Amino acid sequence: MKLAVIGGGSTYTPELIDGFARLRDTLPVAELVLVDPAADRLELVGGLARRILAKQGHDGLVTTTSDLDAGVDGADAVLLQLRVGGQAARQRDETWPLECGCVGQETTGAGGLAKALRTVPVVLDIAERVRRSNPRAWIIDFTNPVGIVTRALLRAGHRAVGLCNVAIGFQRRFARLLDAEPGAVHLDHVGLNHLTWERGVRLGGPEGADVLPRLLAEHGDALAADLRLPRALLDRLGVVPSYYLRYFYAHDEVVHELGTKPSRAAEVAAMERELLAMYGDPALDEKPGLLAKRGGAFYSEAAVDLAAALLGGGGPATQVVNTYNAGTLPFLPDDAVIETQAAVDPSGASPLAVPELDPLFAGLVAAVTAYEDLALDAALRGGRDRVFKALLAHPLVGQYALAEGLTDRLIAHNREHLPWA
Ligand code: G6P
Ligand code: MN
Repeated sequence: MKLAVIGGGSTYTPELIDGFARLRDTLPVAELVLVDPAADRLELVGGLARRILAKQGHDGLVTTTSDLDAGVDGADAVLLQLRVGGQAARQRDETWPLECGCVGQETTGAGGLAKALRTVPVVLDIAERVRRSNPRAWIIDFTNPVGIVTRALLRAGHRAVGLCNVAIGFQRRFARLLDAEPGAVHLDHVGLNHLTWERGVRLGGPEGADVLPRLLAEHGDALAADLRLPRALLDRLGVVPSYYLRYFYAHDEVVHELGTKPSRAAEVAAMERELLAMYGDPALDEKPGLLAKRGGAFYSEAAVDLAAALLGGGGPATQVVNTYNAGTLPFLPDDAVIETQAAVDPSGASPLAVPELDPLFAGLVAAVTAYEDLALDAALRGGRDRVFKALLAHPLVGQYALAEGLTDRLIAHNREHLPWA
């Protein structure tokens, strides 16, 4: 089996390699191609990748290239983990919205829209080249904003599934609290990418007993502390919201906080410099502990499970992924992309039925879906007015003057990535 990783020069890649090495029985990777325009990073990351595999006795071949077409040639699956504009663009996404009193974040709100506008055309071009080379290849998209990017891919007819590590992170966290095997913990996870709630936590599979009330009663303080949300909110909702809901439920508090500390992009850039220096050390042959300070925990495991299910090695599986709604949430269009439990096999991902969504959650999901639809339209067709409309529709923006101010800033800070601007 051959896999290609686009954005393979990312400092995250050793996490992925570590997963491929440990989980080789689930996903036997014979050849791994790291594709990235940054040749210097590729050399450092590629070298460490080879040492990690060798140390674990994995005989897979790791190659590196800056030539996308050569890299994806013959690949069975292509993982997208690129970041258009790098951490410098992220730094801008996280700062200019603050000037308007809005959250500065790379996937939520105006910063997320900027990222979508930069990213969608690049990803669609890559996907087209993958399809030309191998029409049967699966595309696994980690590239944010995953909901919008996956919607763009699916609409263009690509064989694509979107993936995020929020669900697997909760699964692992709950398993530890319950002293259970992670595989035994099934989440009733629903919503949109980075806008999800855990409505149930079942032991032993989808039909198992729901232990969420017990988890909240016994570990509510710890869970609330992880999310930096009040315990009372979790108790009153009776669900566990994802960390990203804090941008909604504690919006003003977050905006204040973001204005008083360095951006996450700046923190990550500093960590990346340190990581790359470590990767260049020929004695390093495992993923360094510092990588755990990044947000990508367990993403390798989620990727291995998904690739195994899509490529037929692992048998049919149930996994939280981003895919077409297809009637699952009846108040959304069928071609909206939702994040939910799905049955995954070589024909793709089909969402499992979910109980009706309480209006408390459905309202936000509907509003953000409408925003995502407008965001995709702006990404595909460009134009100031489309950017403005997407921002106006976003529940964290909503006001005319605010949307105007954000639109001007978004365009000014991203001109080099927006051919129409
Ligand atoms: C989580 C999210 C990812 C996001 C990452 C950011 O893993 O699910 O979508 O890219 O956090 O982590 P970072 O270390 O770059 O801030
Ligand atoms: Mn994510």
